[in-house]
Amino acid sequence: MNIPIRIAGLGFQVPETVITNEDLTKIIDTSDEWIKTRTGIEKRHVLSGNETAVEMGIKAAQKALAKAKTDVEKIDYIIAAASLETHAYPSTACEIQAAIGAKNAACFDITAACSGLIYGMGISQGLIKSGMAKNILIVATDAISRCLDWSDRSTCVLFGDGAGAMMLTVSDDEQDDILSVSLKAEGHLGHFITMPTPGKNCPLAAPNDEQKMFVKMEGKEVYKYVVTKLPVYIEECVAKSGLKMNEIDYLVPHQANMRIIEALEKRLEFNSENVISNIKDYANTSAASIPIALVEAIESGKMKLPCSAILTGFGAGMTVGSAVVKLREGIA
Ligand code: ACO
Repeated sequence: MNIPIRIAGLGFQVPETVITNEDLTKIIDTSDEWIKTRTGIEKRHVLSGNETAVEMGIKAAQKALAKAKTDVEKIDYIIAAASLETHAYPSTACEIQAAIGAKNAACFDITAACSGLIYGMGISQGLIKSGMAKNILIVATDAISRCLDWSDRSTCVLFGDGAGAMMLTVSDDEQDDILSVSLKAEGHLGHFITMPTPGKNCPLAAPNDEQKMFVKMEGKEVYKYVVTKLPVYIEECVAKSGLKMNEIDYLVPHQANMRIIEALEKRLEFNSENVISNIKDYANTSAASIPIALVEAIESGKMKLPCSAILTGFGAGMTVGSAVVKLREGIA
């Protein structure tokens, strides 16, 4: 039996503190012009003081739940996608569970960097279609500002913090909102984007080096990889969906670089009106970037519902994920 899935609610949350490109010129040798021209970014939101990714995730989750009108006690799973958990344990998903009172949910985190939301959708599709779950909350929340070397101008200008959430349920009609999901990984390219985590040897076993926990990226290699491989992977996902590329209303790509988004738009022959981008205001918020772009575009009226869309992300791993979806009215 094919169990249809409903994308029932979406939400997002970003921190209040905003850092402009001009602000960054106070701490690194850069310019608004360089950052805007190479990336499309103008500003980003960052966590401050004791704020955490978990808190952003909770707020995004509560908004998605309110839209979906889901009883929290009916949530079967919470899947959190996070690059830097506030704690390695308890997991981000468990912390969110406790805050929202989803006492019947099983909870776990996934590490797929900026592809996290789509990986979460793929896992959820399997759980719901196999009958193992009826209601799944996916929360993508990333605090990348906490793992940047703020003296490395080649990475620190690119990222911002944020959270997005998606509530999936069994449809109460025949419509399946998730037409296809494709997940890929190319671990042999893992060195393109890395972030070591701290940990010390037993001092009796070996001396300890100084610990550095920063994102490092071979930006040019990532760029070349994405513009070459991502369109092919998106085409595979569209072929699985049963729709043709020109029948899909919107392209909602991961917000990593405006030039990558424009290259995708051209290669997939989308009209710029139908390609969703808000990188200028948020920079790259990692796993949260797709849901933030999606909700903002719906709220602003740029995306008209109901519609069909391709959601597509890529990130450290290298991981890639795409989903062809239908979006109903009232989800955001
Ligand atoms: N301000 C001013 N100059 C800079 C800056 C900066 N912030 N950063 C680098 N430069 C300089 C470099 O030092 C270099 O100077 P040089 O020519 O004197 O050596 C020059 O600008 C060109 O640098 P490149 O790295 O060649 O610049 P490029 O055009 O490749 O743009 C960028 C760099 C924006 C990072 C681009 O490669 C890119 O966007 N790549 C993809 C990144 C991406 O998509 N990442 C996904 C991450 S998702 C995740 O999972 C974490």
